Amino acid sequence: MNEWELRTDSVEATERVGERIGARLEAGDRVLLRGELGAGKTALVRGIARGLHLSDPREVASPTFALVHVYEGGRLPIVHADLYRIEDEASATRQGVLDGLSDPRAVSLIEWPERCPSIASDQTWEVRIDHGGEDVRRLHIRGPARAASGFSDRPRDEPEFA
Ligand SMILES: Nc1ncnc2c1ncn2[C@@H]1O[C@H](COP(=O)(O)OP(=O)(O)OP(=O)(O)O)[C@@H](O)[C@H]1O
Ligand SMILES: [Mg+2]
Repeated sequence: MNEWELRTDSVEATERVGERIGARLEAGDRVLLRGELGAGKTALVRGIARGLHLSDPREVASPTFALVHVYEGGRLPIVHADLYRIEDEASATRQGVLDGLSDPRAVSLIEWPERCPSIASDQTWEVRIDHGGEDVRRLHIRGPARAASGFSDRPRDEPEFA
């Protein structure tokens, strides 16, 4: 595991961080996205989709009502879930919500993983986003060791991965 902490001061900066995560994802990776309402989890997903070369990352929307969206056409299929409205693990299982989240050919990006603790057991990435006031967000990222290489190679205006 590797850990990075960084700060963004705009939604675009958070998306750019997502882009760099997306470039490093591999088939079967599971990314848990933690943070309160409006923290920027879906914004990060949009960036990840861009990093995976999804042709139109604007189609990434909050799946709060559908619970799960699948985006095809990028380097890897993306399964994007928002479990906010899930009551508990049993109802998620009943509704089949968890079925698509273990596809070894896809990457799964999961908002509100707290709702289904068993999902957390085999994550490969974990991102926590905290509000830092106004447009400031603090991102705590844990990723696999293989992701370390080149993570700090960035254009001058990009946030630093410490
Ligand atoms: N630095 C920042 N990074 C990300 N979003 C930011 C930032 N500054 C302001 N914002 C705003 O915060 C909001 C983040 O919304 P987003 O839907 O991504 O949150 P979320 O964590 O997915 O929330 P939810 O739990 O409701 O799904 C957007 O309105 C965005 O414009
Ligand atoms: Mg969201």
